[in-house]
Amino acid sequence: MKNITCIDDLRTLARRRVPRAFFDYADSGSYGEYTLRANRADLEAIKLRQRVLVDVSERSLGTTILGQKIALPFALAPIGLCGMQHGDGEILAAEAAHEAGIPFTLSTMSICSIEHVAEATGRPFWFQLYVIRDRGFSKQLMDRALAAKCTTLVLTVDLQVLGQRHRDVKNGMTVPPEFRIKNVIDIATKPAWAWSVLKGKSKTFGNISGHVPGMENVNSLAKWTQDQFDPALNWKDVEWIRDYWPGKMIIKGILDIDDARMAVTLGADGIVVSNHGGRQLDGTSSSIAMLPRIAQAVGANTEVLFDGGIRTGADIMRALALGARACLVGRSYVYGLGAGGKAGVAKAIDILRNELSVTMALTGVGNIAAIDGRVLEGGEVKAQAAKVAKVAKVTKPKAAAKPKARAQAVKSGA
Ligand SMILES: Cc1cc2nc3c(=O)[nH]c(=O)nc-3n(C[C@H](O)[C@H](O)[C@H](O)COP(=O)(O)O)c2cc1C
Repeated sequence: MKNITCIDDLRTLARRRVPRAFFDYADSGSYGEYTLRANRADLEAIKLRQRVLVDVSERSLGTTILGQKIALPFALAPIGLCGMQHGDGEILAAEAAHEAGIPFTLSTMSICSIEHVAEATGRPFWFQLYVIRDRGFSKQLMDRALAAKCTTLVLTVDLQVLGQRHRDVKNGMTVPPEFRIKNVIDIATKPAWAWSVLKGKSKTFGNISGHVPGMENVNSLAKWTQDQFDPALNWKDVEWIRDYWPGKMIIKGILDIDDARMAVTLGADGIVVSNHGGRQLDGTSSSIAMLPRIAQAVGANTEVLFDGGIRTGADIMRALALGARACLVGRSYVYGLGAGGKAGVAKAIDILRNELSVTMALTGVGNIAAIDGRVLEGGEVKAQAAKVAKVAKVTKPKAAAKPKARAQAVKSGA
């Protein structure tokens, strides 16, 4: 992939290669896209601290998530309809992730099914669950994920109702594409895309089609899917899912301290601080603005992952510095997939890896565990202040206890 040097280049290429309705579906956010923009703007506003003359000749980017060794501090996020960016999109992305040594997360709303991805890649992956009205079907999905040897369940909780993306409505975005004249013309100008999708294993929601009786027809399937999102979903559902799923469970879509604490109380092994990439509640905070408070609130009780707006390796550094164990990357790899299939996803991962490695070198850190608030401008002051506050906290009660301690000492004759 010549002349592709950054994620933005992949986005430009994807825009040329993927039909408008599917590119817009991936690219856009809900309503006025305020939160979508905030995700980027707030990350960009965080300044890194330049350090010099530190020996950074040896740098290691590996870490762990929930005990799983990973080569880079990020995983591929769950993305609905990946297979509409490029035929067999989920399989290709999973392969690129495996080759890079990072986890791939398959969405409930994928085009390729759990079984197809498992069969094609022959490796374990993470499965993302939307709990729908039909709880029996949710259980079935978990059974299928277990049978496919999925190690980790990512339970997404921020989509009880759907935030509207204006561009999807205007484009008549449906799966498979609605044959409006303008869509047909658009697709006709993207033959490579059309060919890849035609050859693909599935052209509709692979996890649902063929598993729900009477849902073979595309229109009934689309309607069923819409109707199945459940506004009644609540914390009690998290309890039974925790009981049912024997592996690791990560709760995705947490943007509030109280919710984060609740998730930990109910047994989440990890949480993802996320606003669904600015696709749900428009007007809520950027993910990065909430990350430090949430990370501090749950402390060492759980692993905190982060997503929303990661487009550079420096962004990954910013999130790790503010308390994330690792990140999920969404659109960055989706653009890669649209731009060039598996090679495009590999390119996206490569870009992020190289940028992170250089960012580590220029901030003077040699490994992931060494990344903390001190890599941020002003971070050394904050770290110092936090240290002082800690000392003050420890010494204060001691000082208060002094007279008593002295009295004790007097009594014991010491
Ligand atoms: C096209 C698209 C589809 C998505 N589909 C899902 C999904 O099926 N399940 C889910 O939990 N999150 C989904 N998300 C949210 C992502 O997992 C992730 O939270 C988000 O993309 C992170 O923001 P970023 O794209 O700026 O990296 C989707 C995001 C996009 C862009």
